[in-house]
Amino acid sequence: LETIEALADQSSLIVAAHRGYKSAYPENTLLAFQKALELGVDMLEFDLRLSKDNVLMVLHDETLDRTTNGTGPIGDYSLTELKQLDAGGWFNQVFEGLKIPTFEELCQLLQPYSEVLLNVEIKKSENAQEAVDKTIALLQQYGYLSRCVFTCFDADILAYLHDKHQVRTQGFLGDVMSNFVPGDTGTYSKMWAAGISMSLLTPEVVASFQDMGILAWCYCPDDEQQAAYALECGVTLMTCNDPVPALRMRPTI
Ligand code: G3P
Ligand code: CA
Repeated sequence: LETIEALADQSSLIVAAHRGYKSAYPENTLLAFQKALELGVDMLEFDLRLSKDNVLMVLHDETLDRTTNGTGPIGDYSLTELKQLDAGGWFNQVFEGLKIPTFEELCQLLQPYSEVLLNVEIKKSENAQEAVDKTIALLQQYGYLSRCVFTCFDADILAYLHDKHQVRTQGFLGDVMSNFVPGDTGTYSKMWAAGISMSLLTPEVVASFQDMGILAWCYCPDDEQQAAYALECGVTLMTCNDPVPALRMRPTI
């Protein structure tokens, strides 16, 4: 197994699927993750939140309304209640019947894919620290921790991940890295990578992070022009809603 660091050092392109193969399948479902794995992506990105009974669930939004046929905050519902919801029909009726996965179900899906990297986003919430501890425990149980990078839009949670659990962290330029000053290694010493949206991506921004030893990671080049621009900027890690254009940019060995 190559470590993420080894891949980054080689300047080879790492392609991550954002919430699974999001452009073609309902986001954060097991089907979306399976289809991304079948494309040959290097990494899966996904979002974690706790149910009312403290089960880690894979869901992006705080509420159920956009991506399921439920309503209200996910934290108001137990696992049993959440499993009664449909998480596919909102995207296309051919996907009716898909469920919100638990994080454990995703871990089980990943078992045959021992080289796939994981970008674990702990969603910002009042119980994010509890979600972190449960997530780390499950990743340790499955032996996946060494291939993870953790994201959060809460600087305190990123610091907790770095200091308490000593894992790789990613902050976002314009969010937890809103006061980014090139060369300010004190502020950013806890960041392994910096997420950069396409609208903020320039060669200068990438070089500034690289000079500080922080991996520049862009979101979301979804066509060949954007993926080519990101490569020109010096980006070596791309998270995509449609991973196919970025995968086509990857040098073949
Ligand atoms: O992991 C962070 C990335 O996915 C961008 O944020 O809102 O799509 O989860 P979001
Ligand atoms: Ca995310």
